[in-house]
Amino acid sequence: MNATIKSIGIYHPEREITNSFFETYLETSDQWIRERTGIEKRYFSLENEYTSDLCVKAVEALQKNHKTDVQEVDFIIVATSTPDQILPSAASRVQAKLGIPHAGCIDISAACGGFVYGIILAKGLIAAQTHRKVLVIGAETLSKAIDLSDRNSCILFGDGAGAVIVEVSSENHIFNALTDTEGNLGKELFISHLSETVDGEPILADRKMHQNGRAVFKWAVSTLVKNIPILVAKNNWKLDDIDFLIPHSANIRILEAVCKKLELPMEKCVESIRNYGNTSAASIPIAWYNGLVSGKIKSHDQLLLIGFGGGLTCAGICLENNIVLEKVD
Ligand code: UT7
Repeated sequence: MNATIKSIGIYHPEREITNSFFETYLETSDQWIRERTGIEKRYFSLENEYTSDLCVKAVEALQKNHKTDVQEVDFIIVATSTPDQILPSAASRVQAKLGIPHAGCIDISAACGGFVYGIILAKGLIAAQTHRKVLVIGAETLSKAIDLSDRNSCILFGDGAGAVIVEVSSENHIFNALTDTEGNLGKELFISHLSETVDGEPILADRKMHQNGRAVFKWAVSTLVKNIPILVAKNNWKLDDIDFLIPHSANIRILEAVCKKLELPMEKCVESIRNYGNTSAASIPIAWYNGLVSGKIKSHDQLLLIGFGGGLTCAGICLENNIVLEKVD
């Protein structure tokens, strides 16, 4: 059974946080943040606004952009590292809030790779002919998990959500994928919940995000430079066949380093880091949507999506863009 993606919607909370917010209480500057990360602003959710709320808003936006019946969805996947609760899943909360009558629901925990993992799983459900219309949402409220006194990480992250529907199609537009994990590096990026140790080593168990930025940066560049050519070859493409690369937006310098090493023009790289910060599982659909709105990404363009982060894990997939924004009244 063939699969395609024809609809997308995104949402960011209303509370805009510019770099100057951090200047008011930390030893940092707008200039440092822009130069070292590319970030100009991000959005933080309100105190009583959680990941499932952002998911619902992204699906409502999807319904404004496309004529599609969300009630027909038969499986919901939410990729997130910041679910409202560990149990029940954010996907179950979304099912209840949208009143979708018959849907399987799971969350997946693959950090910034989560959205691509979601597409891979959704494609598998359709290929297995067990499901026909799968809602895949990447969503985060990372502002609730950051330590606002840690200047190494708090300036990076933002909140947001992006939703797509993976559905049965006469033609296949979702191609081969790649997944890759180095679990031994998990301690370089974590949010602790229940465990106070990793590999027997004590870790900070304050339920906040902790990152060894330099180590993750190095791993990210080498992993993307290794895996993008492998994924391209798995699809019988050449690097030149990529119309747009949509990597997870963690830091503009990671994207520039990868493009430089692979000799890909930066114009082919679609990002969401400047205006949203690092939104983890939401960063790829947000970038994809903005690429469509700006007119950069067009019908039938060949896209390579690749997420990377906490795990440390990486997932990529090639697909043909089949999304046309319609604006439904
Ligand atoms: O999405 C999941 C995957 N995550 C990533 O891919 C993130 C990867 N890492 C990064 O994006 C970068 O490593 C950071 C943005 C986190 C840090 O940038 P960096 O260029 O790697 O900086 P650094 O950690 O090497 O620190 C350089 C200096 C240090 O000062 P000293 O030791 O040289 O005196 C830091 O203390 O910059 C200092 N620094 C800051 N200065 C001003 C660190 N954070 C800040 C800050 N403002 N916010």
